[in-house]
Amino acid sequence: MTQSRVEIVPVDDAFWEDQDALLAGLQESPPRIPPWFGYDELGSELFEEITELPSYYLTRVEHDLLRQHAGEIAERLGCGSVAELGSGSAKKTRLLLAACTDRRPTTYLPIDVSREMLVASAESLTAEFTHLRVRALWGRYEAGLASLRERDEAPVAVVFLGSNIGNTTPAERTALLREIAATLRPGDRFLVSADLDKPREVLEACYNDPAGRSAFVRFRQNHLAHLNHRFDSDFVLHRFYPRAHYDDATSTVEGHLYATEEHTVLLKSLGVTLHMGRGDSINVGYSAKFHRPRFVADVSSLGFALDAQWIDAVWQYGIFLFART
Ligand code: TRP
Repeated sequence: MTQSRVEIVPVDDAFWEDQDALLAGLQESPPRIPPWFGYDELGSELFEEITELPSYYLTRVEHDLLRQHAGEIAERLGCGSVAELGSGSAKKTRLLLAACTDRRPTTYLPIDVSREMLVASAESLTAEFTHLRVRALWGRYEAGLASLRERDEAPVAVVFLGSNIGNTTPAERTALLREIAATLRPGDRFLVSADLDKPREVLEACYNDPAGRSAFVRFRQNHLAHLNHRFDSDFVLHRFYPRAHYDDATSTVEGHLYATEEHTVLLKSLGVTLHMGRGDSINVGYSAKFHRPRFVADVSSLGFALDAQWIDAVWQYGIFLFART
């Protein structure tokens, strides 16, 4: 029975093979691997492990905020159809969908690059909530949003949790916010969370493994393993040591893999050679941190108005609800 309430729709042909984005990233200095390469099946599992680290506060704080305020958020969101960017395991979204389906039948449109995560979360969510239909859009954010626009399924609320808005460069962030704005109609809601700026020590402890754990090491190195298998390259994982640093100037945590010795890597099917000196690095992801008023102003300037916000007691993290203007 649950089967009929789940649909998985590929929206983004062969995005793993998108050589252009990878090539452009590798040509940056230092070279950068686009974030979705971190989320093959193993990467998605390793990411779940990160969210369970005691020092990784983001998931816990966000979960608590959602648990406390799900009813009010659902009320303001207008729950007819809810799209989510980068839904992952949808553990936190579950709280929101519980509150939504209590109020009215809801169509959930998760957008994610991990097909395994989409299938697993769609099945467990429809098993739990009778008044839920899931139409999962398998692909990258932009393709998922484009498919929402094509189907014209308004009103749609777009949900973007996990402070994933920060896993972008400022230019990518603006472009993505513009696409979200273009997908929504006046009055539609956009729910987005943002990790608030805080001292370097806290952030660097959050984005590096605590003693005895290796979730970050394995998650970051898995980018290389994934490229090895996808592009016939010869990264040797133990020649790279992961470390995250906070850059004050940009309020961004940058995850890097540092070469422990000088060597050359060949990405055969891309026709790319990377020369790594000892200590040279590859960027495997940004996590921007936000100054609340600036964040609200930046989002607002792209066609939104703040409707409500939920911030934890010590101002670590915020969930912001915008209306499309
Ligand atoms: N957006 C979250 C963060 O920046 C989760 C996340 C996405 C993340 N990609 C990541 C965390 C890569 C660590 C590494 O923290």
